Amino acid sequence: MPAVVVIGTQWGDEGKGKIVDNLAEQADVVVRYSGGSNAGHTVVVDGKEYKLHLLPSGILYKGKTCVVANGVVLDPESILKELRGMEAQGIDVSGLRISDRAHVVLPYHKKLDELQEAALGDAKIGTTNKGIGPCYMDKAARVGIRVADLIDPEVFAQKLARNIAEKNKILTAIYGAEPFDYATVLAQYNEYAKQLAPYVTDTATLLHQSVAKGEKIMFEGAQATFLDLDHGTYPYVTSSNPIAGGVSTGAGVGPKAITTVVGVVKAYSTRVGEGPFATELLNETGDHIRQRGHEYGTTTGRPRRCGWLDARVVRYAAMLNSLDYLAITRLDILDELPSLKICVGYRHNGRLLEEIPASLKVLAEVEPIYEEMPGWQQDISGIRKYEDLPLNARRYVERLSEVVGVPLGIVSVGPGREQTIILKKMF
Ligand code: IMP
Repeated sequence: MPAVVVIGTQWGDEGKGKIVDNLAEQADVVVRYSGGSNAGHTVVVDGKEYKLHLLPSGILYKGKTCVVANGVVLDPESILKELRGMEAQGIDVSGLRISDRAHVVLPYHKKLDELQEAALGDAKIGTTNKGIGPCYMDKAARVGIRVADLIDPEVFAQKLARNIAEKNKILTAIYGAEPFDYATVLAQYNEYAKQLAPYVTDTATLLHQSVAKGEKIMFEGAQATFLDLDHGTYPYVTSSNPIAGGVSTGAGVGPKAITTVVGVVKAYSTRVGEGPFATELLNETGDHIRQRGHEYGTTTGRPRRCGWLDARVVRYAAMLNSLDYLAITRLDILDELPSLKICVGYRHNGRLLEEIPASLKVLAEVEPIYEEMPGWQQDISGIRKYEDLPLNARRYVERLSEVVGVPLGIVSVGPGREQTIILKKMF
């Protein structure tokens, strides 16, 4: 009953889509357990690029069960657009299963996301404006609308009426915005409900049965460790728990069912949105990485902030997620740099910090402790065996593994499926 979790160890955009896609090929079931359409996974198959937001990456393979579990916030418009897009490309989507307990994103969630961000001014979080925070707020406040409610027209009509009345008061009185029209939203969501209903089921039970049958399950993380609501750089985080522990709450699978946790590490660091970023490079090297790595958001198109690899944060991620293996991505993006730096610890006011500080004030003031290493300055994108990588490239990833205390499992040298060096088979 192998159950593998793939999570991001940094601030998202580690190239998880590629690793997840590689493992999806071997899995029977692929599960999204947290987040929503704020995620953007780019997967390249036979030179063709697919951008996925809510659909699990397993959808690109025939015969896989693809689960959108209860911990996800489901934007019906977004998932239906993706589904129709896949169908138009001849991809079979019949394996999709959506949890009846997932919460539904409504138009007022997206509007409130936008207005709350604007009201924060300089203190804005830099959200994706997909309504993620406001939807999880309703879930925690116990007024959310779940998929089971959406597909029951009577229950949905009642819950929507109550919610829209309250949200319209907030929208008009606090933000001076236009209210939403109940009848319009009701009709639109009733139509979505009809289209989604065939996919809806109790996915926790489905997964329990898969575990019992000994099927191979892959839990596909969205966002990443430092965007985790509890453990990330709060408040510059998302509103869910992307860490490995989020699998248990987000999919209804007990922690003992998880056999392997793979942490995806991009060979350098990036971050979108606001928040502290100790190794950020506001110089030509940062621009070089952004250009060479096409570091622009899949969901929002925003330029990503780029910096040196921060092995200290990855070590913290290893602790939080009980990482078994590291999957290094985008190593080829560093091909041209003459020398590289890895942050191995933080200093604050001249003192070595043992922990990652909770205080954002302190985190913004930390001084990274760097180790400088020579680059390899050659094209590694065609290399398929670990031992064929240039010595300096091997030294770089091995030093990361040493600082983090977790062995290497996968090294990726390009976006294609074949550009993957497998050191350890996860299934
Ligand atoms: P939200 O999830 O839209 O509320 O955004 C909260 C923070 O998480 C912002 O800094 C976003 O840029 C960031 N974020 C959310 N999803 C992703 C992702 O998939 N990759 C990278 N950053 C993300």
